[in-house]
Amino acid sequence: MNSKDTRTQFLNFFKGKEHKIVPSAPMVIKDDPTLLFTNAGMNQFKEYFLGISQPKSSRVVDTQKCLRVSGKHNDLEEVGKDTYHHTMFEMLGNWSFGDYFKEEAITWAWELLTEVFKIDKDSLYVSVFEGSDDADQLKLDTEAFNLWKGIVPEDRIIMGNKKDNFWEMGDQGPCGPCSEIHVDIRSKEDKAKVSGASLVNQDHPQVVEIWNLVFMQYNRKADGSLENLPAKHVDTGMGFERLCMVLQGVQSNYDTDIFTPLIREIETITGSGYGKNEEIDIAIRVISDHIRAVAFSIADGQLPSNTGAGYVIRRILRRAVRYGFTFLNTKEPFMFRLVNVLTDSLGDAYPELKEQKQLIENVIKEEEHSFLKTLDQGLLLLDTIIKNTKGKTVDGGKAFELYDTFGFPIDLTALILSEKGYQLDEAGFNAAMQKQKNRSKSASEISKEDWEVLQDDNEQEFVGYDMLDVEVKITKYRKVVSKKDGTQFQLVFNLTPFYAEGGGQVGDKGYLEDTHGDVVYITDTKKENNEIIHFAKNLPKHLGESFKAVVDKKQRSRTEANHTATHLLHQALREVLGKHVEQKGSSVHSKYLRFDFSHFSKMTPEELQEVESFVNARIDGHLQLQEERNVPMKSAIADGAMALFGEKYGDAVRTIRFGQSIELCGGTHVKNTGDIWQFKIKSEGAVAAGIRRIEAITGDAVKDLHIDNDKLLSKIKVVLGNTQDPVRSVSGLQEENNNLKKQVAELLKDKAKNLKGDLRSELKEINGVQFLAKKIDLDAAGIKDLSFEMGSNKDNLFLLFGTEQNGKALLSCYISKELVASKGLNAGTIVRELGKYIQGGGGGQPFFATAGGKNPEGINEALAQAESYLG
Ligand code: ALA
Repeated sequence: MNSKDTRTQFLNFFKGKEHKIVPSAPMVIKDDPTLLFTNAGMNQFKEYFLGISQPKSSRVVDTQKCLRVSGKHNDLEEVGKDTYHHTMFEMLGNWSFGDYFKEEAITWAWELLTEVFKIDKDSLYVSVFEGSDDADQLKLDTEAFNLWKGIVPEDRIIMGNKKDNFWEMGDQGPCGPCSEIHVDIRSKEDKAKVSGASLVNQDHPQVVEIWNLVFMQYNRKADGSLENLPAKHVDTGMGFERLCMVLQGVQSNYDTDIFTPLIREIETITGSGYGKNEEIDIAIRVISDHIRAVAFSIADGQLPSNTGAGYVIRRILRRAVRYGFTFLNTKEPFMFRLVNVLTDSLGDAYPELKEQKQLIENVIKEEEHSFLKTLDQGLLLLDTIIKNTKGKTVDGGKAFELYDTFGFPIDLTALILSEKGYQLDEAGFNAAMQKQKNRSKSASEISKEDWEVLQDDNEQEFVGYDMLDVEVKITKYRKVVSKKDGTQFQLVFNLTPFYAEGGGQVGDKGYLEDTHGDVVYITDTKKENNEIIHFAKNLPKHLGESFKAVVDKKQRSRTEANHTATHLLHQALREVLGKHVEQKGSSVHSKYLRFDFSHFSKMTPEELQEVESFVNARIDGHLQLQEERNVPMKSAIADGAMALFGEKYGDAVRTIRFGQSIELCGGTHVKNTGDIWQFKIKSEGAVAAGIRRIEAITGDAVKDLHIDNDKLLSKIKVVLGNTQDPVRSVSGLQEENNNLKKQVAELLKDKAKNLKGDLRSELKEINGVQFLAKKIDLDAAGIKDLSFEMGSNKDNLFLLFGTEQNGKALLSCYISKELVASKGLNAGTIVRELGKYIQGGGGGQPFFATAGGKNPEGINEALAQAESYLG
């Protein structure tokens, strides 16, 4: 059965059991501080398990895009080495929210696998949780055991320990015992030799887990203890790629129709065949796996970057590039060429891939290109490190520097070293790595106490679209301590006017005031598990009483002006640049707004002007806000509302309309575009290949800008001697300056001529080379002329000049071409090496090269080293 049919049959089977088919949530998680990526199908349903909100359907089924590359579930380093782990994979799941429990979950799973998919019953094993005698004191899951006993022979039921059979999402949160289903796909002969039961959970590539049925019944608290959840639930997860492997009768996930088209394409591009050499095979598996993770992330709106989720994506892509570089000899970007194949095979199930194909290709190509450059530079630096190594072991600290500062992969360093007969001081490398990890861990460490519940009122209401102050009660609170923010308290109210950070808009600030006049400031508002959480430095004194909750109106209204302006900007860009423009991210603050969008070239000043005028015309048009809160998603889209890729929308959505601009949006907005007063673009630039960023301001910030500009102009006029026409004065100065520059250049030339004579007499003969290393007072161009003139009638000249210009150092090295050939000297290498004395670097040709640096103090030391090259 091919993978497309497998996916459909799974969904339809549970649809037949009254499950609602729901779409996959985005793989990249935007507004949850506890998780960067969806790592299990259940993530999007956490709030239902915790009883924070009620699901619309108590039975759902889906296929979820997951990424396991960070946090508790991290498979990254394994991927490629075996045949059944992945970074990005699809998890097929069926859920019961307080509806059916173990019996249905178990019997339906068995029915689907053996009757619909017709997997041989004799190849299946199941496991049940055996209990634990640690602090949790959990008992054997007899219910599951007895259910399975009615289905399979007892010797096919494996007792599983806590590690394998008690599923937890993270250190805290919903959890419970689970039953796994494993499949043995070995040959008859192998099965006869060793029993499959003994290979379950033993990392055997042909005896693998395919489905995990989790019976959610506990919540793991911050202090490590378990409490019962308000209701019992079922959370199942089946590895789609593994299921396809079984149903397609192959021995590796990579031999299914999910991966073979990618592998064929990699073979075509690189000329390396799959299935002949283990190292090459690993590289091909890594690349075919990682391209999926990266492409899906970009489709979800997450671009590679230097922080957070973007950094994880960058690392995955780089891992693939370096496997290609090392084992497939790919020295040019090539991964972007795989996107085509990917969209062909997965574009129907995940249309976001198809719709954003061009962008995904561009971003990957650019990222590959810049990393390959980094690899090149790293190789040069590694050469220098090797040269300066005494003995045969390369300092681990130095290798770490290369890894940390230049992103040069350590396995590549180790490989190159061993090829050159050196070895890496691994312990030193690991120690340096650990030191850095400790530093960043302690900076990001957060300890959360358990919630203190004051009122059992889980249905929290957000009233902040209509009210900015309202009487509230605190339903629960907890203390949170982090290195970054110190001690804070998180408060949850029964209802709240505070907008929680989301959809690009910052969270509200404000205060709580009780009837005694005590005030506590709310410093930020965020969402966790879909619950609005208010941050405060102090805990209110009279916790059980009522409070007046007041939003900071000034901050809110400025933020609203920026948010509405963002919508108008979006509309303007599509109008002026074209319909290919899509929002790729936004950040709406009270002081400014930032808008990222897809577009392939720098905007011209005219385009920027046009966009600005378009927005200002709509501000002047005083367009009234038209807000609808409960529109069916389908009719909103039919109305032309703009939805964003990678955003999670429910069946009913909120639409925000100002004239012709209609967006799906949960944020807060001005009542009338006239409230924005003015819109001004401050900058436009690139964020990544094919993605541009505009930063802009509105309202008071524009007024302030005008005032500042005015002041600046007055100051400039004063400096120019109280001129009325500063433009003319500056032009005059520029002209004068150009004339002076020309005169100085002439004078320097004369000076160089005189100098040439003096310097010739200072040349020293060393081993047949005319040598001079000297500090002189000339600019870069002058030194170059001088060097070439001195060398014009000599074939054995070696010059190193140092000079200091405006507090910076410059080294210039000239070597006669004949010497380059006969003595193997290279000016480029020499200045790069000597560059370290002036804290800088450079390069050039073997016969002439320069290095710039920020430490003029080091010039003399660099000059003193020059002679050593002639030894
Ligand atoms: N949540 C379970 C898992 O991810 C099904 O394995």
